[in-house]
Amino acid sequence: MSHNPDAIAPHGGQLVNRIATPEQRAEFLSKADFLPQVQLDDRAVSDLEMIAIGAFSPLTGFMNQEDYDRTVTEMRLANGLVWSIPITLSVSEEVASPLQEGGLIRLDNSKGEFIGVLQLTQKYHYDKTREAINVYRTDDVKHPGVQVLYNQGNVHLAGDIWLLQREPHPQFPTYQIDPAASRQLFRDKGWKTIVGFQTRNPIHRAHEYIQKCALEIVDGLFLHPLVGATKEDDIAADVRMRCYEILLEHYYPLDRVTLAINPAAMRYAGPREAIFHALVRKNYGCTHFIVGRDHAGVGDYYGTYDAQYIFDEFAPSELGIVPMKFEHAFYCTRTKQMATSKTSPSKPEERIHLSGTKVREMLRRGELPPPEFSRPEVAAELARAMRIEVSA
Ligand code: ADX
Repeated sequence: MSHNPDAIAPHGGQLVNRIATPEQRAEFLSKADFLPQVQLDDRAVSDLEMIAIGAFSPLTGFMNQEDYDRTVTEMRLANGLVWSIPITLSVSEEVASPLQEGGLIRLDNSKGEFIGVLQLTQKYHYDKTREAINVYRTDDVKHPGVQVLYNQGNVHLAGDIWLLQREPHPQFPTYQIDPAASRQLFRDKGWKTIVGFQTRNPIHRAHEYIQKCALEIVDGLFLHPLVGATKEDDIAADVRMRCYEILLEHYYPLDRVTLAINPAAMRYAGPREAIFHALVRKNYGCTHFIVGRDHAGVGDYYGTYDAQYIFDEFAPSELGIVPMKFEHAFYCTRTKQMATSKTSPSKPEERIHLSGTKVREMLRRGELPPPEFSRPEVAAELARAMRIEVSA
């Protein structure tokens, strides 16, 4: 029997590493001026990084047509492994037409820096409406994920990649912990069960409550805020990270928590993205994953618990990582504590809960969200960030 020292194996069994070695890098750089060039948008840049560091294991590159089709229609890769979100590189017809299948392509970021290489194995057209309906459950162009899909090029470029240059994430270098490193960290700490937490919003007390409920059950908490591209009105990643630092300092047992950034871009695909978020955290070494209310949702596109129900469509062994599902949490004025309808007899008027939009409106008016919703230290930091934004 093979012995795996980690609490959980990566999705597909092997942690992918597509970071170019120094020799490969030197070779690619020497060819830089001769290779056809494709410029990546912010999402593709973060996908390239996620593939290279193994966060998207077993993917070794951008999806070919077989993997793409089966992901869109069945939530599986061509080999049958569960996968719920297409990871594709889309370009316009004009960019695609001169590119030769079989050749190497130089991938640049928006600043024109040479950051990766694609071994182009296939170019193919795809059906955007089918992808929208299947992945986002809507073809409404007001949905931020559908909007990105409809604005992107009509041709996908497929093939394995190598990463030459990392995005520096200068605001949070110490939190740039790749899957190999987080796995090592969990081994060092001796954690056998680790729960991952995805977030794209400033932390509030309902987040804290479900994290701590989970932590009562498992050995360690992996706080993994997403810092890749989000929609325009979401709060900036550096502000969210500062809120986490402040909260950890005052309210968390530091030996039980690891804070790290998730460099991925947000899709807002609700249920499908919940599966994807779980598989990514499995690659980082998490055995459990928190799925609360309307996970990765936006507007009214998904039912409150759709992102939990979708886990029932798979056998637990196919996912490996275990979802920890939480009901809508709020502050209960009757029992004077955080609760859900599972644990509190309160009436709706005894429950304090605010939407992210409401909180942003309050902050813009110069008001602080109440302590039942947000820890005062976090509210103060959000207010400070908002004043800087308004005065800029
Ligand atoms: S998300 O797009 O990353 O899901 P957010 O950062 O708001 O958005 O949520 C992070 C996690 O906390 C998700 O699993 C979400 O379902 C959960 N969550 C957020 N607010 C609540 C709440 N009031 N009650 C229960 N779960 C919540």
